[in-house]
Amino acid sequence: MIALTSPYLWYTTRATGIVALILFTLVVSLGTLVANRIGGTIVGRFEINELHRSLSMVAITFLVIHIMTTVLDSYVPTGLISVIVPMTSDYKRVAVGIGAVAFDLILAVWISSLLKLRIANQTWRYIHWLSWMGYTTAIIHAYMSGTDSRSGIGLVVIVACGAVVACAALWRFFGRPARAAGRTALSPLATAKSASRNGPPTSKPFASSTPRTDQNRGRR
Ligand code: HEM
Repeated sequence: MIALTSPYLWYTTRATGIVALILFTLVVSLGTLVANRIGGTIVGRFEINELHRSLSMVAITFLVIHIMTTVLDSYVPTGLISVIVPMTSDYKRVAVGIGAVAFDLILAVWISSLLKLRIANQTWRYIHWLSWMGYTTAIIHAYMSGTDSRSGIGLVVIVACGAVVACAALWRFFGRPARAAGRTALSPLATAKSASRNGPPTSKPFASSTPRTDQNRGRR
C-alpha cells in the first residue's frame, strides 16, 4: 500500500470540514424557512427552496472532499469503511464514528430528496426529519474531532452554527404557522409534473402539493 500524506491534505480536511458545517447550517436554516412557509413577493418560497436545494449540493461536495482527503491521508488511519460504518476508524474512533453517522443520515436525506417524485410524500417527510439528527451528530463530530474546534475562531464558528440551528429548530417546532400543516414544498418543476398528473391547476398553482382531502387535513 502506498503511503500518502501531506500537510495540505490535513489543511484541506480541516478547511472543508468547517466550510461543510457552515453550508449545512445554511441549508438547515433555509429548509426551516421553506417548511414554515416563509417567503414574500420579492424572494418567494420557491426561490428559497431552490437555494436550499442548490446549497445542499455545494455542501455535499465540500463534505465529499473533506472525507476523501481524510481517507487519502495515510497519517490518519481512518480507512474507507469508516466513512459509512461507525466505530471502525483506528483514528479518533468515537469522533470519526459520529461523523460516519452524520454522513449516513445526510446521505439518506439527500438520496430520498433525489427520489422525491418516486416515493410517497409522507415517506420523504419522515426521512427528511433525519436531517435534524444528521446536523446534531455533525456538530458533535466537528467539536470532538477538530484540530481547530476546541478554541479560538474554530470554537466560535461551531458554537455559532449550533446556535443558529438550535434557534431554527425551536422556531420550526413551536412557531410553525397553522397554514403550513399537512403540506410540503416541491420545486416548480415537480409541482408542474404533479399538476399535469392531477389535471388543470387551481387558482393558486403552487399552493399545495398534497391533495386537500379530509384525510390529509391537519397532518404533519
Ligand atoms: C456531515 C458530516 C461531517 C461534517 C459536517 C464534518 C465536519 C467536520 C469539521 C467541522 C471538522 C473540524 C475541522 C477542524 O476544526 O479541524 C471535522 C474534523 C474531522 N473530520 Fe469530519 N465531518 C463530517 C463527516 C466526517 C466523516 C464521515 C469522516 C470520516 C472519514 C470525517 C473525518 C474527520 C476527521 C479525521 C477530522 C479531524 C481532522 C483533524 O485532525 O483536525 N468527517 N469534520
